[in-house]
Amino acid sequence: MSKNIAIFASGSGSNAERIVEYFSDSKEINVKLFLCNNPEAGVIQRAERLNIPLVMFNRQQFKSGEVVDILKENHIDWVILAGFLWLVPKNIVEAFPNKIINIHPALLPKFGGKGMYGHFVHEAVVENKETESGITIHLVNEHYDEGAIIFQASYPVLPTDTPEDVAKKGQVLEHKHFPEVIEKAILG
Ligand code: GRF
Repeated sequence: MSKNIAIFASGSGSNAERIVEYFSDSKEINVKLFLCNNPEAGVIQRAERLNIPLVMFNRQQFKSGEVVDILKENHIDWVILAGFLWLVPKNIVEAFPNKIINIHPALLPKFGGKGMYGHFVHEAVVENKETESGITIHLVNEHYDEGAIIFQASYPVLPTDTPEDVAKKGQVLEHKHFPEVIEKAILG
């Protein structure tokens, strides 16, 4: 029986698209659904182009358990957060114990927590004169960026790098590793 995954995204959705491409021929893993909380998000166009069903939801639906019901109705086995910015509520964490995976654009535990997302992370890395940064893929619990780390990869940060340069290096690593790490986590 193949495993169904749902991908949550709040923004552009480039990782979501990579994951769809990677599993497009897979018999074991099926990207069943995209879920999005932001009516302005680029992932909406991607869903259409990739022909992946998309569910839009608001905070109330997220917290009340309506989103869990949608995941269950769609027989979702694993939840992937790919640039998703809201804290995952207890009802979802409990419905998918150790089956929610997030990607964070820094080497956690550094540069994590509430408010540390997207360009804020890369700005902080440059501001702090870090000589390296990276990506972290981890399981999700009820706290921002605190679940068990399953994968990290790093890249050098040069003194001349801007936050945009750092973001680009991170994105290359995210696109390269995220689908493979998901595959390993699900199939063992
Ligand atoms: C990625 O850098 C991810 O690590 C972070 O948000 C970004 C999402 O990019 N959490 P995209 O929407 O997949 O292009």
